[in-house]
Amino acid sequence: MIVILTGAGISAESGLATFRDLGGIWSQVRLEEVATPEAFRADPERVQAFYNARRAQAAQATPNAAHVALGHLQAALDDDLLLVTQNVDDLHERGGAKAVHMHGSLFSALCGECGAREPWQGELGNGERCAACGLETLRPDVVWFGEMPYHMERIEAALQKAELFVSIGTSGQVYPAAGFAALARDCGADTLELNLEATGGAFDRVETGRATEIVPLWVQKTLGRQVSD
Ligand code: APR
Repeated sequence: MIVILTGAGISAESGLATFRDLGGIWSQVRLEEVATPEAFRADPERVQAFYNARRAQAAQATPNAAHVALGHLQAALDDDLLLVTQNVDDLHERGGAKAVHMHGSLFSALCGECGAREPWQGELGNGERCAACGLETLRPDVVWFGEMPYHMERIEAALQKAELFVSIGTSGQVYPAAGFAALARDCGADTLELNLEATGGAFDRVETGRATEIVPLWVQKTLGRQVSD
């Protein structure tokens, strides 16, 4: 089994900002003001506006060659591949892959009252009502700092039986994702980082470069055949 973890770097060449690169999202706005439950309680309009802007940008973006290559890999490997993403955009899906969104998705709304989820396009925070309970309590279905990431049991079970763990486009700064390479390696997996720069994580091998170049090449090597864009 191969487990792949992706981060914002895989969507950078689709025009979506990363968080910690020069000029990244967290250099433009303080995460404490837009990405915590406390921030949402204090100023819901501000938080909704932040995610409305990111949802609009993500909707305008197109999957790049790295997303498409992972779609081909998943089509070939099926259940022998688990693709986990920290990203809340839908470019993996639009690139042909099914991804496990451990930080949620901009394209899902969560009811803060009854916990119901519903697919969502467009803006939130203008009086929309939850389809299940009817209250005006819909928030972005994204995991804020201080909240529990989604699907962790499934992810940890996969890491424990993986032969290979591949980290793509993530700085490895945020736990629990930052601990996945070490966990996989402790359980016997080989670990590979495909990233613009080495992050110093628990990787046996590191290939540096832009995702649109190094990910399709790696997928081709893994499949032993060309993967078209
Ligand atoms: N190709 C490959 N890697 C790239 C590219 C690119 N074109 N551009 C940037 N990168 C790399 C950077 O070198 C960096 O290591 O992608 C990584 C992006 O790191 P971050 O901006 O920290 O994003 P990420 O690791 O996904 O952040 C993790 O932090 O704020 C939270 O919830 C948020 O999911 C996010 C989490």
